[in-house]
Amino acid sequence: MLKLDFHPASRHFLQIPGPSPVPDRILRAMSYPTIDHRGPEFGELGLKVLDGIKKIFKTQQPVVIYPASGTGAWEAALSNTLSSGDHVLMFETGHFATLWKKMAENLGLKPEFLGLPGIEGWRRGVQSQMIEERLRADTQHSIKAVCVVHNETSTGITSDIAAVRRAIDAAGHPALLLVDTISGLACADYRHDEWGVDVTVSGSQKGLMLPPGISFNAISQKAIAASKQAKLPRSFWDWTDIVGMNKTGYWPYTPNTNLLYGAERSA
Ligand SMILES: Cc1ncc(COP(=O)(O)O)c(C=O)c1O
Repeated sequence: MLKLDFHPASRHFLQIPGPSPVPDRILRAMSYPTIDHRGPEFGELGLKVLDGIKKIFKTQQPVVIYPASGTGAWEAALSNTLSSGDHVLMFETGHFATLWKKMAENLGLKPEFLGLPGIEGWRRGVQSQMIEERLRADTQHSIKAVCVVHNETSTGITSDIAAVRRAIDAAGHPALLLVDTISGLACADYRHDEWGVDVTVSGSQKGLMLPPGISFNAISQKAIAASKQAKLPRSFWDWTDIVGMNKTGYWPYTPNTNLLYGAERSA
């Protein structure tokens, strides 16, 4: 039997880099009854959450919500925009950058891992001038995406995403910009539209102070256009049906109703 209500300081208090402690008002919202996810009340909830979450990402574009942990949203970002064998540029900032690169390999992509010598990247984060130089050298535009971690939870380093955008533009390169801000969103400054990010990946259990279990892809029009050409196999992660049904506040499958109550309160 779990005894999570017992703690010497009166209640269980999480002090790890995430999941974060969930405030009582969110826990209370999540205790509402689970409703019919095809009924009219659910549509209202869905529209409210989908609209509210855009403010957090600072975007006017669609934000896709998955009933999955952040790892699922990583896979969604890659599989919706890329094709088998595509060359992607990633930057070694620590554990999560390394896991995302491993996922890219598992999916049949060809990641190239840029990095500073030794563990310097763990201290100094993404070096946008290295990205610019590498993209300038890619005169054939074989690199299809640049993938970086905004806030590398394993080291605590926060990277300058606006500078990465400037580097891609300065090189005149058409690569997509994919950013993991799973532990950055709602903690550090983040601007999906202004920084020209094509896919922002995030999760519920860090800055949003929700329990684990939902994750996000904020997407640009350029990313949507890329998804029409992208050939990596995908079904559950496919944006098309989700974005279509989200227009009326619903999902193609059973969403995480009670976590969405919490998300409505959190956003
Ligand atoms: C920066 C970063 N990326 C990715 C992940 C993986 O997310 P999840 O454990 O929710 O699948 C985490 C988890 O802590 C993370 O901090």
